[in-house]
Amino acid sequence: MVLIVKKGTVPPTPHTEFYAIPKVLTKEEIHGSYGFSGAWSRKIHVRFYPTEQVKPPKKSDFALVPDFPPEADVLQPYHIFTGRMPHEGDAIRGRKPIVHGTRTTLSISKPSQSMPKETFFRNGERHEVYFVQDGEGSVRSEYGDLKFRKDVYIAIPKGTTYRIDLTSPKAWFLLVESTHPINFAPHYFNKEGQATLMSPVVETEIETPDLPPYRDERGEFPIDVKHGGGKITRITLGHHPFDLVGWEGALYPFVFDVKSHHGIAREIHTAPPMHQTFQSGNVPHSGFSLCSFVPVMAGWHPLEVPAPYAHFNVDSDELMFFCNPFYGAREGVVEEGSFTFHPGSTPHSPQGNAAQRSLAARGKVQARLAVMLDTYFESMRITTHGFAHRDPQYVLSWAETAPHAEAKGEGWESPSA
Ligand SMILES: [Fe+2]
Repeated sequence: MVLIVKKGTVPPTPHTEFYAIPKVLTKEEIHGSYGFSGAWSRKIHVRFYPTEQVKPPKKSDFALVPDFPPEADVLQPYHIFTGRMPHEGDAIRGRKPIVHGTRTTLSISKPSQSMPKETFFRNGERHEVYFVQDGEGSVRSEYGDLKFRKDVYIAIPKGTTYRIDLTSPKAWFLLVESTHPINFAPHYFNKEGQATLMSPVVETEIETPDLPPYRDERGEFPIDVKHGGGKITRITLGHHPFDLVGWEGALYPFVFDVKSHHGIAREIHTAPPMHQTFQSGNVPHSGFSLCSFVPVMAGWHPLEVPAPYAHFNVDSDELMFFCNPFYGAREGVVEEGSFTFHPGSTPHSPQGNAAQRSLAARGKVQARLAVMLDTYFESMRITTHGFAHRDPQYVLSWAETAPHAEAKGEGWESPSA
């Protein structure tokens, strides 16, 4: 995505010092030192460089290093009930990794409070995309304030200093982290970086931060920095980190409403590349595809079977978060917040008579909403948190004798949600 944003103006106050950018960056510097994505931001601080630390750095009072149960080494599909995980802490301290790989991590965060006053977080090792299953609030960062609400993605580049404030009593996030930048899928964009006219996503539908007046304040401002596989080091600045009078560039946090993913329907089954919203890494050699399964009309060809076929992936693990229980192929098994983890080489399919039931759905809009992530050449492991909230019977849920809750049929037939 190439969408340059310029926020803020330089106030003409004579006492204010501005740090000049040392030089104009060359293209090689931008693509080399300033990030593999080529995207960068130039920030203008009001008074102090962010190098100013007034206390020695120390280990923080929490960590986000995942751990794994011995069972994580047994190959099997998992179903995790994230809706049954408790609400606790703030968005960062309450973060619980549920599946983890060398480059990608998925976590659930269900905060019941804002982050402590004047404290901040910076993910120094991974880019982040939150999906908001529930709740409202703001991500406040050096780039400004970004409001969020249910059913939006919040993209936060690696290295952003931010905090999350809730305006609802609690919230529920699915969090995706990647060592590589997370951008819109490149097959939707032309060589000028503009969304093509057949793309289901349009870069101009993102929401960018509102930059409030700069905070020219002295004090102690702790920033918990994530590094080294989930370790947290607390650094303390002597000035407020949101002291920017302006910034410009193509690297910044943004919100994208899942309803702005304008689904593509066609006569026959629509494959994942058309459901894709984001992508990370050097696909298909590394990284992942992140898809939004929004309500669309099921295929209407007279021989179409709307239910997906039985399949398994090779060199790819498949992770899916169900925003509602109306996913026809697995209706009666999944609930709101179900998260399935299908490792490569383990097949999955509709269960019971779901494929037959799906015939009635031809040409009808499905009520589903789900977020799916396929990794490339990266094996994920279930963590202790994920394992603790698993459905122990899931691997047997395709058995003919498996008991299922009664499917209501809404997964195939109800109008667009
Ligand atoms: Fe699949």
